[in-house]
Amino acid sequence: MSDRSGTLADDPFNGRHPTSHERLTGLPWDASYHDGPAPWDIGRPQPAIVRLASEGGFAGAVLDAGCGTAITLLHVASLGSSVLGVDVAETALAIARARADDRGIEVEFAAADAFQLERLGCRFETVLDCGLLHTLDGDERPGYVASLASVTEHDGTLYVLCFSDGGPDTGPHPISQEELRTAFDPSTGWNIAAIELDRVQTRYHDDGAPAWFATIKRI
Ligand SMILES: C[S@@+](CC[C@H](N)C(=O)[O-])C[C@H]1O[C@@H](n2cnc3c(N)ncnc32)[C@H](O)[C@@H]1O
Repeated sequence: MSDRSGTLADDPFNGRHPTSHERLTGLPWDASYHDGPAPWDIGRPQPAIVRLASEGGFAGAVLDAGCGTAITLLHVASLGSSVLGVDVAETALAIARARADDRGIEVEFAAADAFQLERLGCRFETVLDCGLLHTLDGDERPGYVASLASVTEHDGTLYVLCFSDGGPDTGPHPISQEELRTAFDPSTGWNIAAIELDRVQTRYHDDGAPAWFATIKRI
C-alpha cells in the first residue's frame, strides 16, 4: 500500500492519499455532501441493516467504517449499541452529529481514514461497512481489509453490504462474489461465514440495486 499519511496544509484530502474514487472524480469525498443528499443518502436506514439489527446482529462495541451522514448507524445506536462512526467527509460528519443531537441519540464520531483504523487505538466486536468497500479498486482492498482486521476483536464480526455484479441495474463499481472471497481470504485474518443476496437502496433505484450482504468473522 502506498504511504497514506501526510500533513500538507490546504490539501482537500487532509494529507491522505486520495482513494481511487477521489482520483477518478478529482474531488474529495466531502464534495459529495455539498449540494444536497448524495445518491446513497436515502433518508432512512438501509433495510438490510435494520433487519440485521432486529435479529441482534450488533454485539458489543460497534464501528461503522465510512458512516456518511450516519442514518443507518443512528438506527443501530438507537437500539442500545455503543457505536463509533468514522468517515473522511467532515460535512457528512457534521450532518451526522446534528442528526444525533436532534434525536438525542448517543453516538461518537471521528474524522478518520478507513485505511488507518489502527490509529483509533481501540477494538470493536462488530464492524459495519455499508457501501465503502465497493468504492475501492481491487488494489486498494488489501490495505483496507488489513486496517479493518487491526481494529476487530478476534471472533468479532464484520458485516459488508456492497453492490453486487448480479444485474440487471447494478450500482456503480459492483463486486463479484469471487472478489469478496479473495479480499477476505483466510490469509488476511478473516473467514467468510455467509454471503447472501440482498439490495442496497439508493436515490436512483426504485427497488434498490443488487447487493451482497456478507458476514465475515475475524480469525
Ligand atoms: C457510498 S458512501 C456510504 C455512506 C454510508 N455508509 C451510508 O450508507 O449512507 C461511502 C462513504 O465512505 C466514506 N469514505 C470513503 N473513503 C473513505 C476512507 N478512506 N476513510 C473513511 N471514510 C471513507 C465516504 O466519505 C462516504 O461517506
